[in-house]
Amino acid sequence: MQLLDGKKTATEIKLEVAEEINRIKAKGGKIPHLVAVLVGNNGASITYVNAKIAACEKVGMLSTIVRLNDTVTEKELLEEVDRLNKDDEIDGFIVQLPLPKHISDKKVTEAISPSKDVDGFHPWNIGKMMLNLPTFLPATPYGILQLIERYNIETNGKHCVVVGRSSIVGSPISNLMSRNSYPGNCTVTLTHSRTVNLKDITLSADILIVALGKPEFITADMVREGVVVFDVGITRKADKSKKSGYKLYGDVDFEGVSEKASFITPVPGGVGPMTIVSLLKNTLLAAKGK
Ligand code: GUN
Repeated sequence: MQLLDGKKTATEIKLEVAEEINRIKAKGGKIPHLVAVLVGNNGASITYVNAKIAACEKVGMLSTIVRLNDTVTEKELLEEVDRLNKDDEIDGFIVQLPLPKHISDKKVTEAISPSKDVDGFHPWNIGKMMLNLPTFLPATPYGILQLIERYNIETNGKHCVVVGRSSIVGSPISNLMSRNSYPGNCTVTLTHSRTVNLKDITLSADILIVALGKPEFITADMVREGVVVFDVGITRKADKSKKSGYKLYGDVDFEGVSEKASFITPVPGGVGPMTIVSLLKNTLLAAKGK
């Protein structure tokens, strides 16, 4: 079994992004600027946004957090989005999800200018992705593609099984893995909560991508020898023995599944860091596109 080390790969990619930013600086160009809008006090969202901002700082990119109280109205948030759309100084921005219940994720996502949508969540960008046109790819699927490339994993003709059909991960990665390019050319099966006989399907996977948010859902009896596993899940469970007060769990029972897998991502340190560098790459792309 070989570990798909997202932390190490992300560090390499960050160095490449930093070099590019140094080149922009040397030419007197504008330094790319990412803004993250964070609404409320969701612990996981605060951690993710802080990690995104820290990564920007590491590569020499400008970054700003816009923090809004969870009592902010949908109209006020849409006004903030409009302000960011119009601010030429800002190359790309994200609105961290989930949003409080009284605010529509859909309305907010659709209000973001597609040219600044570095999360790649806007319907126009999703449409371009589906048509294999150049665009911002959603960060987690993009991160998985980069891991596949950097570890030279064969995808041509393979059976790729995706567990979970979210619009952020499961649905876009299914599309990307079936594209006529590398990584891609897989036969893809997209499974979800209504799938019958899931185990029969996962057992035939050459590549298994799991993104459903159920800790240790995929067990060793559900995979075949040699499978390549990407574990997107990350669930916090209270754990008094940890300094942070919690322990992180993936959607895959790592201990059992890693005995059979040829390649597997750990949690933490697998897909997570790759998601963050993908956001940096998208922000660089947004800055260059202006
Ligand atoms: N919430 C969980 N993942 C993401 C992400 O990639 N982007 C945003 N904006 N919110 C998220």
